[in-house]
Amino acid sequence: MKTKTNTIAVVGATGKTGARVINQLQRLNYSTRALSRKSEPAFDWADRTCWPTALEGVDAVYVTYYPDLAVPQAESDMQAFVDVARAAGVKHLVLLSGRGEDGAQRAEEVVKASGLEWNIVRASWFMQNFSESFMLDGLQGGELVLPKPKALEPFIDVDDIADVVVAALTRNDLRNQLLEVTGPALLSFAECVQVIAQASERDIGFQTLPVDTYLAAAKAEGLPEDIAWLINELFVNVLDGRNASTTKTIEDVLGRPARTFEHYVASTVKTGVWSVSA
Ligand SMILES: NC(=O)c1ccc[n+]([C@@H]2O[C@H](COP(=O)([O-])OP(=O)(O)OC[C@H]3O[C@@H](n4cnc5c(N)ncnc54)[C@H](OP(=O)(O)O)[C@@H]3O)[C@@H](O)[C@H]2O)c1
Repeated sequence: MKTKTNTIAVVGATGKTGARVINQLQRLNYSTRALSRKSEPAFDWADRTCWPTALEGVDAVYVTYYPDLAVPQAESDMQAFVDVARAAGVKHLVLLSGRGEDGAQRAEEVVKASGLEWNIVRASWFMQNFSESFMLDGLQGGELVLPKPKALEPFIDVDDIADVVVAALTRNDLRNQLLEVTGPALLSFAECVQVIAQASERDIGFQTLPVDTYLAAAKAEGLPEDIAWLINELFVNVLDGRNASTTKTIEDVLGRPARTFEHYVASTVKTGVWSVSA
């Protein structure tokens, strides 16, 4: 198959969604540019001087912000990013956003007002936070300890997010739309841990602490201040019940139901990621 002429860049190309998006685009024969701090050319959110070179010759870009669009710096970084993208000749920007996060919604407004064609893929909490992110250590060690969440969450499979992002990048009929994506069911963290424990045939405990107690202990073990701020924001504000509902966007865009938590666990347990004892 001939390589398509448009170049699609992925910012955060080694991340949970970015790696999946770039794999799919390459399978579809798009010309891609993977961007992260170690790519060539490099892209670093902390160094705006490298952005123009990173975006040179790029037609469309999928943007994941690090560490999270909820952080105060995100809005100004996104404004600077869309300005550089427009000047570099980028036509279309797809932003990964977080559901119910005030900071993320300010960054979304920047993208919508940028003059570029746009999509916002606004996602609920990822299922893969249990296997590729901060909850993995606890699960491997036999007990997950978290700040006490106040509400249920419609966890989404990152593979579904990648499918929607690729659709947004490649389908003209989806342009200039907000795509709010969730998993198919509201779940508690305790239920999720139970499903993982059962599938991996292990005893895995689950304990919650008041957020202040949790953060004091985590900071004593070296958790950086900005990540502590983010955890507080996510558990106190974002998980307060505002996101305790599902959407039908996956079905509307992809013509099939969203993947279930059981499906995610059944496929992930085969990798052995939860069998390791830390
Ligand atoms: N986790 C959730 O439940 C959830 C839910 C909704 C939305 N989100 C959003 O998801 C976004 C993160 O996307 P993700 O989970 O796909 O990524 P991720 O797995 O957190 O990976 C981060 C990516 O960013 C790169 N990166 C790290 N620091 C960087 C820097 N200073 N400059 C440039 N690149 C940097 C990393 O590569 P290198 O380290 O090699 O540079 C990696 O490719 C956040 O903005 C968050 O708001 C997350």
